[in-house]
Amino acid sequence: MSKFWSPLVKDLVPYVPGEQPKMAKLVKLNTNENPFGPSPKVIEAIQAELNDSLRLYPDPEGESLRQTIATYHGIQPNQVFLGNGSDEVLAHIFYGLFQHGEPILFPDITYSFYPVYCGLYGIPSKVVALTDSFEINPADFTQPNGGVIFPNPNAPTGRYLGLEHVEEILAANPDRVVVVDEAYIDFGGKTAITLVDKYPNLLVSQTLSKARSLAGLRVGFAVGHPDLIEALNRVKNSFNSYPLDRLALAGAKAAYEDEAWFRKCCEGVISERERVTAALENLGFEVLPSKANFIFARHKEQSGEALARGLREQGIIVRHFNKPRISDFLRITIGTSDQNDALINDLDSL
Ligand SMILES: Cc1ncc(COP(=O)(O)O)c(C=O)c1O
Repeated sequence: MSKFWSPLVKDLVPYVPGEQPKMAKLVKLNTNENPFGPSPKVIEAIQAELNDSLRLYPDPEGESLRQTIATYHGIQPNQVFLGNGSDEVLAHIFYGLFQHGEPILFPDITYSFYPVYCGLYGIPSKVVALTDSFEINPADFTQPNGGVIFPNPNAPTGRYLGLEHVEEILAANPDRVVVVDEAYIDFGGKTAITLVDKYPNLLVSQTLSKARSLAGLRVGFAVGHPDLIEALNRVKNSFNSYPLDRLALAGAKAAYEDEAWFRKCCEGVISERERVTAALENLGFEVLPSKANFIFARHKEQSGEALARGLREQGIIVRHFNKPRISDFLRITIGTSDQNDALINDLDSL
């Protein structure tokens, strides 16, 4: 605390990202990064941008990338909004598309940035409990609200909600924006982007950090009705007109132009996820069904905290949340097969 802080900063409770340790030789399974690198075409595209043009500002609207994403998803460029990672897109959504006087609904176990945005903007929120099997019950999202947001698949549970149930939530909230945060959708789910022309209250956010292996480039986007996108542009242009730099715009576009690489990485993660799930079940873990690039698992006898500590002593980092209902779970990012073998062997020895 300092006398120079504004009263607003004094009361902020910031998000705590998973650690990025400096030690070499760690098996890092704590922040849901992709174990496979980005497409070589992304690297080439970024290298091609490393020239004198860096003295110029990038395209504030990211027109070329928006066109690429629109074509990929069969929509129009004016239905796409770009941001510096989907975290920034989400921040603008909370500011620009939720009704601030009424509570925003999100699950009790979910992405822990949502309550932070509510705190940042002074928006009330109400958590909606997941079922005992950690699923979203659409009927629970019919209560009065200022907006609804949930990840699909949910994080950190990995559980996926079928599109027919997403539609139930949309239909129950025609006067409120419903945001489906699809950070992990490419690992086995079906995107709700196919529904944006049917539901003017639907906004879908996605990221290139996970399935496209570009967490370090910071590119995310939202898709929805042009009126929703216009609100986000108004917020963006009141905050930072150039959220994506020239390298990010070029690299992200190239990522969409290498479908074969993208598919191979997703399939690699999915098959390893199924292998790790089966191996952990053999070791006495309950593993929630996951459609993400991570699994959420608890051991029948050992505590989550002890297991996370034991793994760390062996040089393996996973995420443990000391929170009600989930303190015995570990969220484990799917790594390379060597990393996953190390995880399985170490859990076996604990
Ligand atoms: C559910 C969810 N949404 C959004 C994000 C943010 O992703 P990024 O800002 O890297 O696009 C994450 C990151 O882990 C996430 O888990």
